[in-house]
Amino acid sequence: MKIIHTVAEMQAHSESLRNNGQTLAVVPTMGALHAGHLSLVKLAKSRADQVILSVFVNPLQFGANEDFDKYPRDIKNDEHLARQAGVDILFYPSRKELYPEHYHSYVCVDTLTEYFEGDIRPDHFKGVTTVVSKLFNITKPHVAVFGEKDAQQLAVIRKMTRDLNFDIDILAGSIVREKDGLAMSSRNVYLSKAARVEATILFKTIELVKSSLNNGFHDIEALLAQAKTNLKKAPLATVDYVQLVDAETFKPAQSLLQGKAYIFILAVKFGSTRLLDNLHFTM
Ligand code: PAF
Repeated sequence: MKIIHTVAEMQAHSESLRNNGQTLAVVPTMGALHAGHLSLVKLAKSRADQVILSVFVNPLQFGANEDFDKYPRDIKNDEHLARQAGVDILFYPSRKELYPEHYHSYVCVDTLTEYFEGDIRPDHFKGVTTVVSKLFNITKPHVAVFGEKDAQQLAVIRKMTRDLNFDIDILAGSIVREKDGLAMSSRNVYLSKAARVEATILFKTIELVKSSLNNGFHDIEALLAQAKTNLKKAPLATVDYVQLVDAETFKPAQSLLQGKAYIFILAVKFGSTRLLDNLHFTM
């Protein structure tokens, strides 16, 4: 596995691989790799000759009172896991390399970024779309892979890719779960023992909504009420939002139409740790 730290070297290496007829996939991450990330690498490997994994804890996407400083970082372990997973190139730039002094350029997607995560975390998506655009220009991939757990992020990146004509296929990797159903996330390590036990409430709520949908229960208000009641079974949990949205626009669905794709999304806080989860479904 080749390890690259600079933008110039990464761009030159990608360019030469492309000139040699190789297809490239990028898996952007903030490190603290877990099985969820490794499943994205596997998907990337099935779609391209060379897989680039980027590790960069992007300061732009963290709010002033968020966890940028304490975000888990373990590059040695990431390097080990990336190598084992068959990553070809690990791109691990410094903050100064991506945001040198007098950096002033940003990429924003409007509308889609105004609700849910965008409402609770102002400027978060501006940070994500800026760094992802930079990573696209630096790694020059044919394919980029993102996890479905961050459903709104995925929708925003798809929109940006379409609107700005990036010639890149965006692939989505399914949510990878712990044995008890908790969606894997680098932030799960912040959970206290008691919160970790209660955190399965997100998956249990998803399962409940799924079974109601499968039983032909399609009244949105009633489905959301059922989900909210279930979440109350976890006394340590504070619900940020629970909603059923159109999969493309992220606008709350008014009714469930045959053949259309929707996402049931939820964000729940345990202390200062926010957990996201979702269920994609087509009627
Ligand atoms: O999902 C993440 O880990 C980050 O938001 C991403 C896409 C790597 C951008 O920093």
